[in-house]
Amino acid sequence: MSHEVVVVGSVNADLVVGVDRWPGPGETVLGSDLATHPGGKGANQAVAAARLGGRVALLGRIGGDGHGDLLRGSLADAGVDLAHLLVTDAPTGVALITVGPDGDNTIIVSPGANAHLSEDDVAAARDLLAGATVVSFQLEVPRPTVLAAARTAAGGGARVVLNLSPAALVPDELLGLCDPLVVNEHEAAFLLPDHSAEDDPAALAAALRERGPRSVVITLGADGALVATGEETQVVPSPKVNPVDTTGAGDAFTAALCLRLARGDDLVTAARFAVRVGAAAVRKAGAQSSYPTGVDELPG
Ligand code: RIB
Ligand code: NA
Repeated sequence: MSHEVVVVGSVNADLVVGVDRWPGPGETVLGSDLATHPGGKGANQAVAAARLGGRVALLGRIGGDGHGDLLRGSLADAGVDLAHLLVTDAPTGVALITVGPDGDNTIIVSPGANAHLSEDDVAAARDLLAGATVVSFQLEVPRPTVLAAARTAAGGGARVVLNLSPAALVPDELLGLCDPLVVNEHEAAFLLPDHSAEDDPAALAAALRERGPRSVVITLGADGALVATGEETQVVPSPKVNPVDTTGAGDAFTAALCLRLARGDDLVTAARFAVRVGAAAVRKAGAQSSYPTGVDELPG
């Protein structure tokens, strides 16, 4: 049977240290013991959607190392189809993460094997991509690979969702395939030279839609998300939770959105569900390790 959600994206081991405050340049601070969690925006989305019961596959690359084994295990436990999780002669991607006292983080990604995900890999996964209901992308794998895969997906009738994270310039053709483009306020402002992240999110969304995407979702952290389609622009509020670690909450949100879109929800209805999944993920440490395994675990 074909997949509801195919994720094309990164697979990282997250090396996480808690800090009371962040060091400045040249400064040293002491942090907590090191924790190693399965992460990567692509793998996170795949795990989140599969834990919610989705038929999910991941197209990505890992190295033949211990971090790769950790990630394969987490993905397999969640029930993600790993027929297109490829092994490369490069280290598995790593994210160096610090988590501050309010659950905020900083992240530096070393792409490793993720940088080897190629257009040839896309060609080999043609049937997977073209046969999916929704194909979801982020920008921790090479942009030419993302564009090739998005073309293949859209050509087969799949709905393309792109989370423009980390922010990077992408061809207008790719933006034009998105339904929705998912960004936070900083990523939105990055694409819009005449706007700043402090601008009214509805104005950001309207300006983004002029760049080509059929719909736009702007994630607003604890305030939820703004959804803009041709017909309506609406803020969907998030349930209130005590933040422990926001790492990967955006990935959980986007995964839940994709799954509900694949099951026929309209974008606003899908976002109402997705904010609850995102909120659930900030209540616990880590990315994948914080994702809910069923709707009974969701706040709101
Ligand atoms: O979005 C959170 C993720 O970003 C982390 O899991 C880390 O691996 C980076 O990809
Ligand atoms: Na979390």
